[in-house]
Amino acid sequence: MRVHKIAAIPADGIGTEVIAAGLEVLEVLSKRDGGFKLDVELLPWSSEYYLKHGHYIPEGGLEKLKTFDAIFFGAVGSQDVPDHVSLWGLRLPIAQGFDQYANVRPARVLPGVKSPLKNGEDIDWVIVRENSEGEYAGHGGRAHRGLPIETATETAIFTRAGVERIHRFAFELARSRPAKHLTLVTKSNAQRFGMVMWDEMFYEVAAEYPDVKTDRELVDAVTTRMVLKPKTLDVVVATNLHADILSDLAAALSGSLGIAPTANLNPERIFPSMFEPIHGSAFDITGKGIANPIATFWTAAMMLEHLGETSAARVLMQAVEHATASGVHTPDLGGEATTAQVTKAVSDYIKASQA
Ligand code: NAI
Ligand code: MG
Repeated sequence: MRVHKIAAIPADGIGTEVIAAGLEVLEVLSKRDGGFKLDVELLPWSSEYYLKHGHYIPEGGLEKLKTFDAIFFGAVGSQDVPDHVSLWGLRLPIAQGFDQYANVRPARVLPGVKSPLKNGEDIDWVIVRENSEGEYAGHGGRAHRGLPIETATETAIFTRAGVERIHRFAFELARSRPAKHLTLVTKSNAQRFGMVMWDEMFYEVAAEYPDVKTDRELVDAVTTRMVLKPKTLDVVVATNLHADILSDLAAALSGSLGIAPTANLNPERIFPSMFEPIHGSAFDITGKGIANPIATFWTAAMMLEHLGETSAARVLMQAVEHATASGVHTPDLGGEATTAQVTKAVSDYIKASQA
C-alpha cells in the first residue's frame, strides 16, 4: 500500500467547506483504487487561530510541514484581519519558504459549463506563474507614515536564477503538450530592467527547445488575445503579478472562479508542493453551503498526479467532467446545486466506475 502524507490547511471561509468536500472525494478515490492511502492531518492554521494566538503558523510549524508529501490548502482571508497580514502570515511563508516557484494554473471549459465567450471551447491553456520573487518579493518599505511626505516603495525583484528556472519549467511543460507552444508575457516596453531581462532570458532558454513554438505579447495586449483569439494560446509564462491577474481572467472565461485549480510546485521536490483552488475565502457565500467544490477537486487531481497516482487522478477528472456535463451546477455556474450535491455526484461516479 502506497501511503502519502497530506497536510490539509482549510484556513478560512469557504476554504473549510471545499477542503472538506475534497477530502471526502479523495477518501472515496483511495477506497476505489485500493493501492494507495492518504494519511491526512488537518492543521487548524486560520485567521481565527491568528486572532487567538497572534500567529498563523505556530513555532516549528514550517519544520513540521516539511515532513508531508503534499499540502492541500483552502483559502486564507478574513474580514477581521487585513488581507496583507493574512496572506503574508500563512500562504506566502509556505509558498516562498518551500521554494514553490512554479505556480501552474490550467484553464479549460469543462463539459456542460458555459463560457462567457462565444468561442469558449477554444480555451485550453496553462498559465505558468513565477511564484517566488518578482512583484511579490516583499521588498520595499514605508517612511514618514501619516505625513504629507509619506513614501512607500514596492520593488519587484528579478534574479537570473529565478527567471531562468521558471522559463525552463514552462518550456518543459509546453513540450509535453500537443500544441508545444509557449507565449512569453511581460511589459518590457514600459519596464526596462527586470522585464527586459525576462525577455532576454526567455530566448536564451528557448534555444534549448527548438521543438517548442514561441511568441511574445505584452501583458495588456494578451488580455484581448485571451478574449478574442483564445485558440492562439497554449502555455503562457508570466511574472508573479501578471500571471496572478491573467489567471483570474482565465478562470472567469472558462466559466467561474469556482472551477479553477492551481499547483504551487517545488519541482525539485526538496520541499512539499502545495495544491489549492485559485479562489479566496469568498465572504459573500461563506456558510451557505453553495461554494463550488470543482476547483478543489481539480486541484486534488493535480495533487494525485504529483504524488504519482495518475490513474486515480484520471478517474477524478472523469468524475468531475461527468458531474459538470450532467448539469449538477452550483449557483456560480448558473445552477442550484449545493456543495454537498456536487460532491455526491462526483463521489457516486467514482464508486460506480469501480474497476
Ligand atoms: P474570492 O475568490 O474569495 O471571491 C471572488 C468572487 O468569486 C466572490 O463573489 C465569490 O463568491 C466567488 N467565488 C470564489 N470562489 C467560489 C467558489 N468556489 N464557488 C462559488 N463562488 C466562488 O476573492 P475576494 O472576494 O477578492 O477575496 C476574499 C478573501 O479571500 C480576501 O481576504 C482575499 O485576500 C482572500 N483570497 C485568498 C486567496 C488564497 O488564499 N489563495 C486567493 C484570493 C483571495
Ligand atoms: Mg489571485
